Amino acid sequence: MSIPIIRTLADLRKTVAVWRHDGLRVAVVPTMGALHEGHLSLVRAALERADRVIVTLFVNPKQFNSPADLAAYPRTEHEDAAKLAPLGAHVLYAPHSFEMYPEGFATTVSVNGVSEGLCGAFRPGHFDGVATVVAKLFLQTGADLAFFGEKDFQQLHVIRRLARDLDLTVEIVACPTVREEDGLAMSSRNARLSPSQRQAAPKLAAILFDAAARIAGGAPVDEARSAIAAAGYARIEYLELRAEDDLAPMEKFDRPARLLVAAWLGETRLIDNVGMPALQGAITRAAA
Ligand code: PAF
Repeated sequence: MSIPIIRTLADLRKTVAVWRHDGLRVAVVPTMGALHEGHLSLVRAALERADRVIVTLFVNPKQFNSPADLAAYPRTEHEDAAKLAPLGAHVLYAPHSFEMYPEGFATTVSVNGVSEGLCGAFRPGHFDGVATVVAKLFLQTGADLAFFGEKDFQQLHVIRRLARDLDLTVEIVACPTVREEDGLAMSSRNARLSPSQRQAAPKLAAILFDAAARIAGGAPVDEARSAIAAAGYARIEYLELRAEDDLAPMEKFDRPARLLVAAWLGETRLIDNVGMPALQGAITRAAA
């Protein structure tokens, strides 16, 4: 069993046109490859809602902050295709770089507001790169539905804003973060951790969940910083409470929120977040 691989926009459009002619509902799962269970959960969710699922694989140079990071990004197309085939995904769209950014390409899609702060503050230009490539993938595939993980929570907000602002008809579907058994959020970057770092890594998620419970009880957000540092994370880029619906900064927990973190374990930057649904008590206290 194998999955058809499409390399050109012309071939993709021909395939999608046949599906559309047959009245089929099309979903897209954008990825940069190095697929893990998190990606596969998006594909499964897409298969439940759509008749045809396109998985895209494109390591987008525009969203990397350094050439070294881009060069180090794992390229595992063969293994990725082998993981997708048994799931029943219909097409792997793995375009050539010149297909995405042909000679003379000069357009940048920039989403203000939600792309500022958090990762945006530490990765200048990153979300412009994401928004540009995702806008292209939406237009190229013409998908009705697009699936993204909550692990990249700020990215999810940037993409939702992009779709709303440009009147794209694609429905953005958010899927929960998939975690290893020890709680570590799945990420292609986890493969870069040394064995001892891999052992320490899940402490970030444990601290985050614990901090979320404490913040809901009135503790300050910054209280968790010392525990993160003690777990071996030498550099904390941010630890912030943001509103679930619009990512606005929050001083205290008085409506549904996300606690988001980015921190470095050795040379590896890890991000994670946890949802904090409104607690009846917290809302009542805030309103009083
Ligand atoms: O989340 C990712 O893997 C990438 O940012 C995306 C959405 C595929 C765009 O390149």
